[in-house]
Amino acid sequence: MTIQEAHHHALHVLGQRRPQLARTEAHSLARLLLDNTVHLSHAHLQFPERALSEAEAQHLAGALEEAACGRPLPYILQRREFWNLEFFVDERVLIPRPETELLVEAVLSRIEEVPSPQLADLGTGSGCIAISLAHARLDARVFATDASSGALQVAALNAQTLGVEERVSLIGGDVTHWSAPLLPAASGALHAIASNPPYIAGDEITQLQTEIVDYEPHSALNGGADGLDCYRALATQIKVLLAPQGFLALELGAGQFAKVRALFEAQGWCVEAPLIDFGGIERVLVARPA
Ligand SMILES: C[S@@+](CC[C@H](N)C(=O)[O-])C[C@H]1O[C@@H](n2cnc3c(N)ncnc32)[C@H](O)[C@@H]1O
Repeated sequence: MTIQEAHHHALHVLGQRRPQLARTEAHSLARLLLDNTVHLSHAHLQFPERALSEAEAQHLAGALEEAACGRPLPYILQRREFWNLEFFVDERVLIPRPETELLVEAVLSRIEEVPSPQLADLGTGSGCIAISLAHARLDARVFATDASSGALQVAALNAQTLGVEERVSLIGGDVTHWSAPLLPAASGALHAIASNPPYIAGDEITQLQTEIVDYEPHSALNGGADGLDCYRALATQIKVLLAPQGFLALELGAGQFAKVRALFEAQGWCVEAPLIDFGGIERVLVARPA
């Protein structure tokens, strides 16, 4: 089979098995699966007549079957770009989302004048936030927690691959208490805390796209009955970790800003105006102890 034939075949299979995919999405998925198989970019345009080897044909068939079943592409490829860095991902962690880069930006822009900042990322997942911060600020030390041991394994692999393992301390989280694991190491010491906690309302999870519901870890999504449980816990539990002038930057779900601001203000935090993402959503809340 040539690359061009393989591309047509992949498009046909995706069209049959995932009819809900827009044509452009199916096209892009077929191309990326094929490019990943032959380790070439835009292979169907550049080398349409090149034949696939037996091993490549088998690899493509396996990847295509996974994609046809709805497995998200980053899990199939086992990688996802975030902050211009390549992260290993699998089903132990949430796939990093582009809007989360706004959270990294929010932290970095507010610590420009802080020498050797001490930072934390609570609920680190793949480590994308903690590692991006450490990568961008070579003088920073970052504490990263997660309640999932599988996530910590993935974050450790990424910290090592991306060369920041000596400045990123990975610490087992506590599902009931966001600051407890950090109290011995970082009490009153953090210049900034970032967190993208689970924030989907429990009964809304099943309404998400099947790719998310069937493959991404529910412990990374489920924010309790109204989606706000983690924000309630963070508002009451983590002030003790902040240094004087320290701040918290939180990712939010669509439509949550007003409610989360009220929760934080009720617990004695001063909340800045929201940061808006490229989709027009109030995506990041920044707060300091009042
Ligand atoms: C929405 S995911 C975010 C992952 C990653 N930071 C990102 O932005 O892609 C939330 C993460 O928080 C973790 N988590 C949930 N409750 C936690 C807790 N109490 N302490 C630490 N981590 C927690 C989950 O295991 C999950 O990895």
